[in-house]
Amino acid sequence: MQSEISPEDEAVLASPPEQAGGPNSPQQPQRAAESFQSKETFQSASQDAVDTAPDGKHASLTTPAVRGILKAQGVNIADVRGTGKDDRVLKEDVYKFVAARDDKLSKPFQASAGRRDPGTDQAQVEKTIALTPVQSQMFKTMTRSLNIPHFLYGDEVDVTSLSTLRRRLNLQAANGQKLSFLHFIIKAVSLALEDFPTLNARVEAGSERQAPKLVMREKHNIGIAMDTPQGLLVPNIKNVASRSILNIGAECNRLQERAKDGKLSVTDLTGGTITVSNIGSIGGTYVAPVLVQSEVAILGIGKAKTVPAFDDQDRVIKKDIMSFSWSADHRVVDGATMARMGERVRAFIEEPGMMMARLR
Ligand code: COA
Repeated sequence: MQSEISPEDEAVLASPPEQAGGPNSPQQPQRAAESFQSKETFQSASQDAVDTAPDGKHASLTTPAVRGILKAQGVNIADVRGTGKDDRVLKEDVYKFVAARDDKLSKPFQASAGRRDPGTDQAQVEKTIALTPVQSQMFKTMTRSLNIPHFLYGDEVDVTSLSTLRRRLNLQAANGQKLSFLHFIIKAVSLALEDFPTLNARVEAGSERQAPKLVMREKHNIGIAMDTPQGLLVPNIKNVASRSILNIGAECNRLQERAKDGKLSVTDLTGGTITVSNIGSIGGTYVAPVLVQSEVAILGIGKAKTVPAFDDQDRVIKKDIMSFSWSADHRVVDGATMARMGERVRAFIEEPGMMMARLR
């Protein structure tokens, strides 16, 4: 809001020079303050200008054109140094005053912009970048996946026996091929799917004319979420039911190598029926995995950790545990089925002998 020229100012302007209230007049500072009451920021800058303004007794005299500019710029004539005859205020005096005032007002911002301290600077710095090809794909598939009503089912699994077995087998590995937890877990999932084939199916959502359907799939093509140099990729191991754990390990290593070199084929990347995401190989206890659109279940694995537990005789013993987090499509999978499948996988992992007994 601009300040107005008060009737008193008009009277001063109209009065002869000797009647005009000069800076020494007791009225002068009060009117200057009143003129800027509505613009606090201007007030301090103008007050500085008042401090350095001249004391000429004709400073308040000027023409109607200059008064118009004073009004438009919200300037009190008493603050302006007049350079005309008898200290009259000219147009250029007002413009000079306004330029000096505006410069003073903008200085605090310029100063803060000039000395940016990365430690305390609160200003946000943004940069827009395009998504990588893998991120673009992830953007599309994950957006579609979130149309599926997911539910999460989690449990802690005791991997102490499996740790011991894995260590023993790896010590004896003749060809240097090591087995990780993941290779056993993939096999356990496949064995459990034999009793819960719905979890290997896909949903055909249907349309207004066609009812939704479940498409059952015989082969267990188990997808592995992989952290690769290009980003998240999910190749799958075909027909896990027909493979030994060693063979699963070998195929997993092949896919990892290909993923690292950006050489996964379309066949490697398509046809998955259920996915395992081992985020625990990087870190983290829990994960809420998001379903792949053509699947109805996914298993997320957390990092193994050693915890104190009680044995049958209430003695404190060490246990290695891992969290298993399942997400499932609640349109076709109910909680009880998911819990039974989870229990079956847990039983195979906690008692690896049971898994061996089921191997063909
Ligand atoms: N807890 C503790 N240790 C684990 C573990 C877990 N959950 N999973 C793996 N390890 C161990 C392995 O046994 C191995 O140990 P070792 O050297 O003593 O034998 C070590 O960690 C390295 O394992 P890694 O080479 O990663 O093999 P892997 O077969 O377990 O996992 C991948 C392979 C491809 C799954 C893994 O490298 C990867 O990319 N994980 C990230 C998956 C991801 O990004 N998921 C999120 C999707 S949203």
